Formats: sequence, structure tokens, C-alpha cells
Amino acid sequence: MNLIKGSTVLVTGGAGTIGSHIVDELLIEEPEKIIVFDNFSEGKKDNLEVALSQNNTQISIIESDIRNREDLDLICKDVDYVFHEASILLLESTVEPQKAIDVNVQGTFNLFQACIKNGVKKIVWASSASVFGDPLELPVDENHPFNNVTFYGATKVACEQFAKSLYHQHGMRQIGLRYYNVYGPRQGIKGAYAQILPRWFDQIEKLQPITIYSDGSQSMDLIFVKDIARANVLALKSEVDDDFFNIGSGVETTVKELAEIILDVTGFNKPPIFEPHDVNLVKRRRCSTVKAQKLLGFTSMVDVREGVRKYAEWRTRKSPVSS
Ligand SMILES: NC(=O)c1ccc[n+]([C@@H]2O[C@H](COP(=O)([O-])OP(=O)(O)OC[C@H]3O[C@@H](n4cnc5c(N)ncnc54)[C@H](O)[C@@H]3O)[C@@H](O)[C@H]2O)c1
Repeated sequence: MNLIKGSTVLVTGGAGTIGSHIVDELLIEEPEKIIVFDNFSEGKKDNLEVALSQNNTQISIIESDIRNREDLDLICKDVDYVFHEASILLLESTVEPQKAIDVNVQGTFNLFQACIKNGVKKIVWASSASVFGDPLELPVDENHPFNNVTFYGATKVACEQFAKSLYHQHGMRQIGLRYYNVYGPRQGIKGAYAQILPRWFDQIEKLQPITIYSDGSQSMDLIFVKDIARANVLALKSEVDDDFFNIGSGVETTVKELAEIILDVTGFNKPPIFEPHDVNLVKRRRCSTVKAQKLLGFTSMVDVREGVRKYAEWRTRKSPVSS
């Protein structure tokens, strides 16, 4: 049975990078209504262009803030399922820790309360691989200790603990997904807190050499944004409750290797420059994908070279991907 068909689904942060891809992926399941809830601090209406151009599902866009408890209470009244993506990210949380508490922690708690009060059937929400910090061993499985030292990671650890306790106290069905290094179309261009791919593509567009922090030996577990969206829908449809999953590719790519792929795909031939950096970057990342594969039926499908090519195409078109 397709439980999403005919339902009402709320996507917080639904105009952002991951949220808007979740909206696209959800459309395949034919819900009756999708409510996008976003304060548009980073999100863009353009990101919803593909979704708004189809006419089987009603899409309503609410411009509001997860810090506004009354709005969340009101919106959740007729909602069956929730995907929660609204959050500030790593670098902004470092610069503005109070905002990280207000948005990531209090805002998430506001949403959880509204879900419990209104009998929402299940919540799938964005945790982060940041909870693990520098790995003690590779690959990192879901039982790896929280070795996080960042403020952002601390907000995600806190939310995982709240989610777990609310499941036990109130039966709030929840799954937290620990995304690894997400990249792909619609990822913030020219934002103050832009991540690695958008930053490098901005530099290439300005014909400047790309900047690699430290020696480029740090590694990432890169996961394409459409894979992330698919993992979310699979998690909602699964029978699993009250659990946490790594969502990554299980493949380790160093910063230097990623730079080589990008230079190759774009044909840009200025060599990178290396700079020191003071933000606490995790040195290595590679997750175990076994649990997500076994319990959610999720495996990533887009490898790094293909994903970078898709991102480059989207940059050229500057329009949302439709496939
Ligand atoms: N991008 C990654 O590599 C990554 C990795 C791990 C976890 N995550 C998590 O995934 C989620 C989505 O991240 P993303 O990469 O799509 O980021 P994003 O910035 O593109 O999307 C976040 C969205 O939330 C909205 N938002 C921010 N604050 C809000 C508030 N107070 N009220 C309502 N809306 C608000 C923004 O406008 C934006 O549309 C976040 O929870 C993030 O912590 C992302």
C-alpha cells in the first residue's frame, strides 16, 4: 500500500536545497497536498518551479519560521506526515550559536510538539553526520560514539535525544537521517555560508583558481541530493520507528580528488591554490551504508563524477533539474 497517496505532507525548509528535492520526489507518490513551510532565509521559490509546474498535487507555500510555535500548531492540524529540513548549517551555527539554539533546537522542538499535539503519523527529519565528529574508525556505523566538537553538531545531537525521548513518552514516530556531504543542484550559490562545490564553481565562473583549505587530504562521503530525497521518502514509507540512519554513499573522496574531478568536468585548467583554514573540519568521512540498505532499502545511485556533471549542467542552465 502506498501510504503517502492522498495524504497531506508538510516539508519544513521545503524551498531549500534538500527540501525542494524531497518535494519533487514526493510528487511521485501522489499525495493530495504538500505544504512547504520556509522562512526563505536561504530557500527560493525557483527551487519549487518543477513541483509547481505539475497539477496532480496541491502545493501550498507558507512563508513562516519554525521559531513561530503558533504557526506550526496551526499548520500541523491536518497534516499526516512531516519532513523536517529547516535549519541553519555548520558555518552559520559557528558564527551565531544563539541562532543555532533558537532555530535548530527550539524550532525543532516546536515542530515536534506541534506534531504530537496534532497526531502527525510520522516525522522524518534531518540530523547530520556531524554528530560523529572525527571518526574513531572507518566506516562509521550508526553505533559510533558522538565525537562531535562543533556547535552545529551539538544542536543535532540534542535534537536526536529529544526525538528519542518524545517517541518513548508520546509515541512520536520519528526517523532521524544523518546526512553525509550533500551536494547537487539548487545548492546555495554565492551564499555567505556556501559549501565546497558552490564555492569552487563560483571561483571557476570568475576564472579564479579554486581554493583548497589545508593540504586537501581531508575526505568526504559525498552524496547526491536526489539520493538524499529518495532516502527520505523510503524512510517515511518504511515500518521503522524511532531510529537513526547514516545516509551517505559509503565512498571516501578526498578534497583533492574532488578538485581534480571538477577541473576535469569543467575543463578549467588553472591549478588550485592551498590556504590554511581555522574552521574545525572533520578529517575523514566514510559511512557504513549497511543499516540503511537493510532496513530502508536505500543505496546511493549517483557517483561523484556523474553528480558533479549534473551540478555543472544545472549551473550552466541555472534552472532546477527535472530528472
Ligand atoms: N547540506 C548538507 O551537506 C547537509 C548535511 C547534513 C545535514 N544537513 C541538514 O539537512 C537539512 C537541509 O539542509 P540544506 O542543505 O537543504 O540547507 P538549505 O539552507 O538549502 O535549506 C534549509 C532551508 O530551511 C529554511 N530555513 C532556515 N531557517 C528557517 C527557519 N527558522 N524557519 C523556517 N525555515 C527556515 C531555509 O530558508 C532553507 O530553505 C538541514 O537540517 C541541515 O542541517 C545538510
